[in-house]
Amino acid sequence: MKVESVTDLVTPPSRPLGTSSSSTEEGTVQTWPQKLKLGSLELETPVLQAPIAGFTDLVFRRLVRELGGCGLMYTEMVSAGGWVKGTISPERLFGVEDEPRPLGVQLWDREPEMVEEAARRLVDLGISIIDLNFGCPKKRIMGKQGAGATLLRDPATIARMVEATVRGAGEVPVTAKIRLGPQQESITACDVARAVESAGAVGLTVHGRTAKDGYGIPVNHSRIREVVETVSIPVIANGDVSSAESALEALKNTGAAGVMVARRCLSAPWVFREITAALRGEPIPAPPELEEQKEQLLRHHGQLVELHGDPFGTVLMRKFAARYLGGIPGARAFRSEITVAKDAEDFRRIVAELFPTHAEVVALEEDEGLQEESCS
Ligand SMILES: Cc1cc2nc3c(=O)[nH]c(=O)nc-3n(C[C@H](O)[C@H](O)[C@H](O)COP(=O)(O)O)c2cc1C
Repeated sequence: MKVESVTDLVTPPSRPLGTSSSSTEEGTVQTWPQKLKLGSLELETPVLQAPIAGFTDLVFRRLVRELGGCGLMYTEMVSAGGWVKGTISPERLFGVEDEPRPLGVQLWDREPEMVEEAARRLVDLGISIIDLNFGCPKKRIMGKQGAGATLLRDPATIARMVEATVRGAGEVPVTAKIRLGPQQESITACDVARAVESAGAVGLTVHGRTAKDGYGIPVNHSRIREVVETVSIPVIANGDVSSAESALEALKNTGAAGVMVARRCLSAPWVFREITAALRGEPIPAPPELEEQKEQLLRHHGQLVELHGDPFGTVLMRKFAARYLGGIPGARAFRSEITVAKDAEDFRRIVAELFPTHAEVVALEEDEGLQEESCS
């Protein structure tokens, strides 16, 4: 069903969704959360941009902010221990000091002292909110480091991590992001959610799959609903939200207080304004015309080159450029050329020659084909 506005979904919800619902003769008109309060931080809209390693850098976040409709953006996940011990230079924090707020930083680690110290440093940087990653299924993070989704087996350690972060963060709110559990035979999300809440976190994002599932099965809304019904802190539903319609479905099915979008925003960073419009009962804005998308692509590339120089900025831009033009016929030639663009001049030539400007959007690309395992 194509949802044009909030009133298209008239349903009798089993539980009010955060704000209110009103009765009519036909049934109950579902209304949706309009804002989201995460501790002391109030978001203008409960639609969040997920942390996406390798993608949600300064330039991408700038683009999302410009397009509007996003209540909170996260950086890519940052290794707390690597930063504190000085073994990595946290390039992923590049630009955050001067960036407009609200802005969230996500940390990962398995040592409470590391996240506590990293949280202190983030307070000094004036970050609005700190998120802890307990959902990453990457082998490098789970196996060798025993962090990310490995910790879903161990709610007690998660509680210690959250407590330590809250200590380091002081007044700055702390949230966590999880999957349902390490695998289907071990769904731990409700135990983990209780641990996260009692340790002082003010919100929790749940990606409705287990670590072992990868992206291979549809997201499980009923499991997210179980978490919503287990804790009193706001729960944000994540997984397969790719449009206003799927966002409303996720909210209706889970009772969550907000939604978080990852893969879809890489090819359609305007998805946030579509979802926010739907939540407010406003008409859903049309996607930018192809000509506008082309300008956006060139600006995106230009900013990366300005920050990182050329050809490195162009190399960084390849993976973003490959995700433009989802569902546009004739984009294949553009994609295969742009992913090997040598430098800025080559990049601009390929865009001028191959970026379609008069095509019809035929369909959304359902499977974005991007896995967490493939992130840098
Ligand atoms: C390439 C890639 C990188 C990701 N990096 C992170 C990350 O740094 N931190 C995190 O919590 N989740 C990360 N995720 C998971 C997403 O935030 C999100 O939970 C997941 O993709 C499901 O949402 P979606 O269906 O909207 O993509 C990543 C996902 C992908 C595809």
